[in-house]
Amino acid sequence: MDVIIQPNPEAAARMAARVMADLIRNKPDTVLGLATGSTPLGLYRELIRLHREEGLDFSRVTTFNLDEYVGLGPDHPASYHTFMFKHLFHALNIPREHIHIPDGLAKDIPAHCASYEDAIRDAGGIDMQVLGIGANGHIGFNEPMSSFTSHTTMTTLASRTRQDNAPFFEREEMMPHHAITMGIGTIMESRQCLMLAFGRRKARPVAQMIEGSVTPLVPASVLQQHPAVRVFLDKEAASELRGAGYDRRLYENKPEWQKT
Ligand code: PGA
Repeated sequence: MDVIIQPNPEAAARMAARVMADLIRNKPDTVLGLATGSTPLGLYRELIRLHREEGLDFSRVTTFNLDEYVGLGPDHPASYHTFMFKHLFHALNIPREHIHIPDGLAKDIPAHCASYEDAIRDAGGIDMQVLGIGANGHIGFNEPMSSFTSHTTMTTLASRTRQDNAPFFEREEMMPHHAITMGIGTIMESRQCLMLAFGRRKARPVAQMIEGSVTPLVPASVLQQHPAVRVFLDKEAASELRGAGYDRRLYENKPEWQKT
């Protein structure tokens, strides 16, 4: 894991966007795994800026989103479809048929999950997966005790996740209990991961992910076993890392070509 600690979320998002932009310039048909939530918003704003001001071309890029709520259609205001079009896709030139988000209204959910995995495989696999971390250590909607080898599946949301995400719904009881999510196995098969975490609320799960034991109690801890993970943090999210000083020195002393 490369742990990159920046003074604020904006600086971290700019660095993460640069890493992604370099990949897209080198491999225009990049397959991206994308995430929702408040964490990647700065990254998405920066990608839009790079597209508008520096001509970063997404016309051959393919995307797969991590997850979607079961029961919410693409037009539901709290669906991740709506989120992605509002915060990113409306402003980029990704062809609509290159955009994949699990279908929250799928009638046969196991068949839909299997075909989502097939589509990822047919696209050549995910080159770069964007991830956030939940307050309970989840990645995607893989809640604590999820299998490390799981693939796209329907999960039952943990009560902590439902509490955290309820504000996005008009009333708490409208918050779904289930979601379709890429599995931890799917995430681990991606060639690179960009994990972002900001704010004091993320300090504990971030420390568990980076310095704790690899355990299904903290699903993100499995990323210690992924060969290419960059973790972009602001100071607050890094505040419980015992090795934060070490991480900073290590990063500063890398040769330029190994830095992001
Ligand atoms: P957040 O969610 O970005 O809204 O904090 C992250 C997550 O739950 O994975």
